[in-house]
Amino acid sequence: MYTKINLDKTDINSEPPTGEPARQQYFMERLKRVVEEKSQEYGRPLTACVQTFGCQMNAKDSEKLLGILLQAGFTASEDEASDFVLYNTCTVRDNANQRVYGRLGYLNSLKQKNPRMTIALCGCMMQEPSVVEKIRKSYRFVDLVFGTHNIFRLAELLYRCYTEKGMVVDIWEKTDQIVEELPARRKYPFKSGVNIMYGCNNFCSYCIVPYVRGRERSREPEEILTEIRTLVADGVVEVMLLGQNVNSYGKTLAEPMTFAELLRQVAKIDGLERIRFMTSHPKDLSDELIEVMRDCPKICRHLHLPLQSGSSRILKKMNRVYDKEQYLALAGKIQREIPDMSLTTDIIVGFPGETEEDFEETLDVVRQVRYDSAFTFIYSKRTGTPAAAMEDQVPEEVVKPRFDRLLKEVQRISSEVCGKDVGKTMTALVEGVDTHDGRLVTGRLSNNIMVHFPGDVSDIGRLIPVLLMESKGFYYMGRKLP
Ligand code: SAH
Ligand code: SF4
Ligand code: F3S
Repeated sequence: MYTKINLDKTDINSEPPTGEPARQQYFMERLKRVVEEKSQEYGRPLTACVQTFGCQMNAKDSEKLLGILLQAGFTASEDEASDFVLYNTCTVRDNANQRVYGRLGYLNSLKQKNPRMTIALCGCMMQEPSVVEKIRKSYRFVDLVFGTHNIFRLAELLYRCYTEKGMVVDIWEKTDQIVEELPARRKYPFKSGVNIMYGCNNFCSYCIVPYVRGRERSREPEEILTEIRTLVADGVVEVMLLGQNVNSYGKTLAEPMTFAELLRQVAKIDGLERIRFMTSHPKDLSDELIEVMRDCPKICRHLHLPLQSGSSRILKKMNRVYDKEQYLALAGKIQREIPDMSLTTDIIVGFPGETEEDFEETLDVVRQVRYDSAFTFIYSKRTGTPAAAMEDQVPEEVVKPRFDRLLKEVQRISSEVCGKDVGKTMTALVEGVDTHDGRLVTGRLSNNIMVHFPGDVSDIGRLIPVLLMESKGFYYMGRKLP
């Protein structure tokens, strides 16, 4: 699904406009001419490949980036042996960075075979000056580097890349701009992420996101609602509202609005069947939100509620602003009010100073809450964050066994919890044909668990009642009801 914008009124013979989005619309047209010339020269269309690392925010940004490239006349490709390759990077943990450096080696080998290839890097990793320094010095085959605040400028930057010599680097330290009305290429025709806010103000002491994504900025509710209405008119039935901490949505708007109120308004949109959101910080999860989730059937029965640690002492050092008891009380309240709500979480093992007792507290919360699933991470030191300067870093040989113990516990509980709905009928949104068995399709239940059942391509994008016949631990096998 590709939302194209009408550029007929853009005069590319004049000077570029200074205001946005007019300026980018101008550069999309100019870039289009360059792409046309090149494809005539090569005797084939120019291909562009956008690879995403990291979270849903980056995935959403990549859809915008690809939209700009399609508007400029590129053909989308999954293959990195393309004329233009863009890596949208993540830096939340060191292994995310290492993956990018590893893949860059491969891109270099492709570029040696095809010197006309253009390579670009953007996203969170590029907001770190030390990374950009390293790219400039040791990865000189890279043609273009930009960050998170100026992704809307891709057309202008790529145009410069094609018309200037040397590496083009454009990193903004911060922004208060939110540029809309640019094209986008959606991965799925029937579901879409929708940004409701950008950045983060929480400064959890281990986390680099506030430094690379900047301060929290909420979008105006009318803009969000208009975007969702447009998506629904275009066939979308499920939206995922995106923000690093959706529960603090609207606090900084000229006319403040709560996240719960925004949800109420989104739920009123006719034709929209399902609403998800990511991520909820426990410190801001209000009773009003619990009520709205409970009373609104369109809101999916899935809440991602990152715990990080079960130890109040560690939570304090993490600057999470809640303690073990408050977290447990909140999770308990949600489970009492909305018994069919599936809870998932994020947990970090080996935060500086974590003792065996602290780790036991984390296991204790996992056993009490009984999550449907949990993402578990080994603490990764991020330069510039307060936790990186803490003295008592935990050695790897202590962290690894803890991590393995946690993972085992999480998986044991998850396979018990996920099997509980066998025999029930639930509605699944079909996302595609099963990758292992072409006679099956794969659907997502409201609680975010997947179900596989006999079907075909005509089911994709439809909400279908399915009898859950068997649990396979993390997913179900089922059959369509007539
Ligand atoms: N805004 C979201 C999280 C975004 S980052 C929230 O607050 O829930 C996703 C997850 O990565 C975090 O929840 C955390 O568990 C993990 N994470 C962040 N920084 C990390 C680090 N330095 N080491 C290990 N895991 C980290
Ligand atoms: Fe990072 Fe904390 Fe912000 Fe989440 S809330 S992005 S963990 S600083
Ligand atoms: Fe990674 Fe940036 Fe998301 S650091 S987790 S891609 S906000």
